[in-house]
Amino acid sequence: MSSPLRPYEPRDRGALYDICLRTGDSGADASASFAVPDLLGEVYVGPYLAFEPELALVLDDGTGAGGYTLGALDTRAFEERCEREWWPPLRERHPLGEHPPGSADAGVVALLHRPPRAPDVVVERHPSHLHIDLLPRWQGGGWGRQLIAALLERLSAAGSPGVHLGVGAGNPRAVGFYRHLGFTELLAAGDTLFLGRSTSP
Ligand SMILES: CC(C)(COP(=O)(O)OP(=O)(O)OC[C@H]1O[C@@H](n2cnc3c(N)ncnc32)[C@H](O)[C@@H]1OP(=O)(O)O)[C@@H](O)C(=O)NCCC(=O)NCCS
Repeated sequence: MSSPLRPYEPRDRGALYDICLRTGDSGADASASFAVPDLLGEVYVGPYLAFEPELALVLDDGTGAGGYTLGALDTRAFEERCEREWWPPLRERHPLGEHPPGSADAGVVALLHRPPRAPDVVVERHPSHLHIDLLPRWQGGGWGRQLIAALLERLSAAGSPGVHLGVGAGNPRAVGFYRHLGFTELLAAGDTLFLGRSTSP
């Protein structure tokens, strides 16, 4: 079989939103928690596909995308572009108060109205950032490692010295994976652990 790792194509968009939802509860399926299934993807997938599609890679064995990694080369520039182009229409579509307080949907709507800025100490030497999610059938087979390696190569070729990510304290499996791949702790802020590593092999 040829490698299932390939660049993102626009037809993958729906599958990637779905993967985001099905891994959105600290790595577990979050679909039962959301009334609006696309909400998580609108925050954690959509802007990367729209603004940095050349850094989006997927796993596809011929049955459709089952995993992805997404990246932003320059986190500050990405945040500013989202503020100008991505969040305003989403905020109109999802006004504050449209979901019951305390619901998963309300949490994500609050986030898109006030998206957190990556801390200065994190972006200083690790200006890029990434997301990675694989459906259960793709997990544990070395594909996460391969996706990260392919993304690091692209970020390095584009001139980035370092990449960071934020992971929830409730996802120890992912934290172990990142540490195993050479990511080290940059900052612990509340429930979020920021990890980073150089883009060199
Ligand atoms: C976390 C995730 C991306 C890891 O990808 P994966 O394909 O399952 O991991 P791999 O099989 O490529 O593992 C790569 C290496 O890390 C090691 N590893 C994986 N998890 C580990 C852990 N918790 N602790 C220590 N090592 C770990 C593997 O043993 C493997 O080692 P080797 O290559 O030296 O033999 C994937 O499981 C996933 O998508 N989970 C659900 C979504 C999620 O949690 N995303 C992260 C959100 S921040």
